[in-house]
Amino acid sequence: MRKRIGVLLSGRGSNFEALAESVAAGRVPNAEIAIVVSNREGAPGIDRAKARGIATRVIPSKGLEREVYDRQVAAMLDEHKVDLICLAGYMRLLSPYFVAKFPNRILNIHPSLLPSFPGLESQRQALEYGVKFAGCTVHFVDENLDAGPIIVQAVVPVKDDDTEATLSEKILKEEHRIYSEAVRIVLEEKYKIAGRRVLQS
Ligand code: GAR
Repeated sequence: MRKRIGVLLSGRGSNFEALAESVAAGRVPNAEIAIVVSNREGAPGIDRAKARGIATRVIPSKGLEREVYDRQVAAMLDEHKVDLICLAGYMRLLSPYFVAKFPNRILNIHPSLLPSFPGLESQRQALEYGVKFAGCTVHFVDENLDAGPIIVQAVVPVKDDDTEATLSEKILKEEHRIYSEAVRIVLEEKYKIAGRRVLQS
């Protein structure tokens, strides 16, 4: 049985697209993207999913209490019998209800070397702080922001002439590579979690 992935996104959807490409190319074996859900109308990621013939849903979040909204999303994911949930530029905090419902089954990609620079505009935070190396992280999602056990990270050097745009571009290229790698590790169950450490087996 192929493992079923649900993707949650809010915008551009380039990480979704890279994952879809990896699944199609067999770099994430025995998997399919079963559903792509956006909380925002007009998210380009939804058009990208449609163009690939993948089921999509827009569930607008505006005005809804966090858990009420998350229950709708969870019902949609259950309906599509999703094994793994990938947040791909999903700009919402998850309720404790949602996190508890899918233990160790939600992954997130974040454009920094966590635990540095959680939250928004991480690339700008990294530049302003003056770090010489930046990067990205794929991690399990727990109840805290950008904080669960780390599955894969990638590092990019920060050059003197980097701007937020050039640094973001370099990081994004690595994001596209490591998200698929992390999804493969998790779906093949080739890991164990020891404390905060995700160890590959
Ligand atoms: C990516 O850089 C992702 O790491 C970031 O949003 C961007 C989405 O791009 N996510 C976060 O900052 C989450 N805290 P995409 O829509 O093209 O994948």
